[in-house]
Amino acid sequence: MRLLDPATQPDAIEQAAQRLADGGLLALPTETVYGLGARADDDAAVARIFQAKGRPANHPLIVHVANAEAAWQFASAVPLVAQQLMDRFWPGPLTVIVPRAPGMAAASAGGQDTIGLRCPDHPVALKLLQAAARLGVMGVAAPSANRFGRISPTRAEHVMDEFKDQGEGPDEVWVLQGGLCDVGIESTIVDCTRAHPVILRPGRLTRDEIEAAAGEPVGLSTPEAPDADAPRASGTLVAHYAPRAKLRLMSDTQLSSALDLIEPELTAKALANKAATPPGIAVYSRSLWAHRPASPGVVQRAMPADAISAAHHLFSDLRELDALGVDLIWVEKPPVDPVWDGVRDRLARAAAA
Ligand code: TXA
Ligand code: MG
Repeated sequence: MRLLDPATQPDAIEQAAQRLADGGLLALPTETVYGLGARADDDAAVARIFQAKGRPANHPLIVHVANAEAAWQFASAVPLVAQQLMDRFWPGPLTVIVPRAPGMAAASAGGQDTIGLRCPDHPVALKLLQAAARLGVMGVAAPSANRFGRISPTRAEHVMDEFKDQGEGPDEVWVLQGGLCDVGIESTIVDCTRAHPVILRPGRLTRDEIEAAAGEPVGLSTPEAPDADAPRASGTLVAHYAPRAKLRLMSDTQLSSALDLIEPELTAKALANKAATPPGIAVYSRSLWAHRPASPGVVQRAMPADAISAAHHLFSDLRELDALGVDLIWVEKPPVDPVWDGVRDRLARAAAA
């Protein structure tokens, strides 16, 4: 494991770009989450990603590019709707699925004849992608930099926790420091290869914004109503993004009555146990704490009340709660409102695990 930090090492970006050119693994910051990257045109390098994550090799990866021109090299055609979305949202938290150019990035695409492309809006990522392009690396395949099925990382430290014991030589994970990710949940993925576009994974960009840019109605695949034609892929598996603790979603009233039942026992246990045993339950809620006093048996954490900050904090808060060693994380269901689609999607999948 090696940390490259552009804030303290003037050649960090160059070293990181060279690492990619050499076929090695490099975790990179983006505005959504950190990605575990390798050059997209090198099937052996891409195989290292699947191996490190423990991810099935038929799950397609997103290829990250410095700009739209680089994206076109991977596409056999750029559908008009993809072009419109790229013009409107790139660089940004949007992945477009387009037909793949034959022979390009086959391993990255997990055998699909389509490919997911994204130009991230993060200064370090963009500098890296440009430096890599100068070394002949036109795209960087990068899934989220976590082990398969686990919580995506939003800080370099999370990535280091996930992969500290991983490999030597090109299998060793180098990490490019880019600070805290702004968006906090993965990009909105829009399949542009159908008659009508479909959101395969919601993110910060809402369906309304996507429809406005596309100029036509856009479908939405959800855990409750998954899109039948979507390839089986990890971000769209019903159970994903899971902490070690069991996560349960409840309404605020369900949460309140469940706590009424169990809190006295947990509090008694906590008070009797002078030794530091981990608390049994963590509660992550938007509305509860205003009318519920703190208690020694239950860890309480406030979920931000607006969707943008809730997404920003979601994965790091779940990681922190998980690290306390609790058995259960009870989460208040987010509002049924399109701006919460991304957060609701991640929590539903985490609860299904
Ligand atoms: O924000 C993000 O998108 C992050 C950062 C690192 O850019 N990346 C990310 O990658 O979330 P990953 O591998 O965890 O999720 C990629 C998902 C796949 O699980 C799949 O659902 C979808 O993108 N995907 C990629 N290529 C596809 C394709 N050709 N067809 C359909 N879905 C595809
Ligand atoms: Mg992922």
